[in-house]
Amino acid sequence: MLHIPVMGRVIAIANQKGGVGKTTTSVNLPSALALLGAKVLVIDIDSQGNATSGLGVDKHGLEATLYDVFTGVFSLSSVIVGTEQEGVWVAPANNDLVGVDIELSEKAGRETILRRELEKLKNQFDYIFIDCPPSLNLLTINALVAADRLLVPLQCEYYALEGISALMQTVKLARQNLNANLGLEGVLLTMYDSRTNLARQVGSEARAFFGHSVFDTVIPRNVRLSESPSFGKPIFLYDEESAGAKAYLALAEEMKARELERHSSEEGAVEEEEKLVANTKF
Ligand SMILES: Nc1ncnc2c1ncn2[C@@H]1O[C@H](COP(=O)(O)OP(=O)(O)O)[C@@H](O)[C@H]1O
Ligand SMILES: [Mg+2]
Repeated sequence: MLHIPVMGRVIAIANQKGGVGKTTTSVNLPSALALLGAKVLVIDIDSQGNATSGLGVDKHGLEATLYDVFTGVFSLSSVIVGTEQEGVWVAPANNDLVGVDIELSEKAGRETILRRELEKLKNQFDYIFIDCPPSLNLLTINALVAADRLLVPLQCEYYALEGISALMQTVKLARQNLNANLGLEGVLLTMYDSRTNLARQVGSEARAFFGHSVFDTVIPRNVRLSESPSFGKPIFLYDEESAGAKAYLALAEEMKARELERHSSEEGAVEEEEKLVANTKF
């Protein structure tokens, strides 16, 4: 198979709504990619630190976290810790991040802290994922500035698309003001229950709206996925036979297949995404 170098692709996992599967995806998609042989870093920028603990790192006993990176005390590389799974590292966060917005409100260059830190180390990884908080704060802005691409989990429930409009508005502003090159990695349907009309309806609306940018893979509602964080394990170390594990592995494979596809039609893909955001009415 053709090998595509994807060194240091930075993917922000964002949606301004909470509880849509950002953290679950930030833990399990990197884990799946690592199973396929990639070297992956997960950067946790949510003060809840759920990606940190979900990857088995004790968020209370940390010497240094993203807080120290944002406040300039430590470099990003010096806060990274290994996880139980080979190929997966995490730059951890905890409650210390609450209020860092205010602390930095006067600081010049505060939107580009993460990008500058990532530039120093991104080529040491194949993928870098950023688990964003459910709000458009300075930390999310840092992620949108640092990212090459955006992955948007969409929970199949009422009002899902309203959250998306808000996010696409944010992406538009980010492209205009902060990061003209921000691409859309894809929209991921999460907690999908194919037995319900609602899930099917949200799914088809998302596909009508975002077209090919919606991943074919959907993540089903799966109780094993909701249990694994309390064991500090990605789904593959908790129950690799579960429907959730199979779905995240399929997602990783689809992502890689899409990379190949994009590589062979890079210009077409970029144009398609630009059109999508430009034509989005809010
Ligand atoms: N596919 C899924 N099936 C079952 N539970 C899920 C699934 N995805 C997420 N959850 C659960 O839903 C809640 C919110 O998910 P989470 O990933 O933390 O969302 P976010 O980071 O967007 O706030 C968590 O309790 C999580 O365990
Ligand atoms: Mg989260």
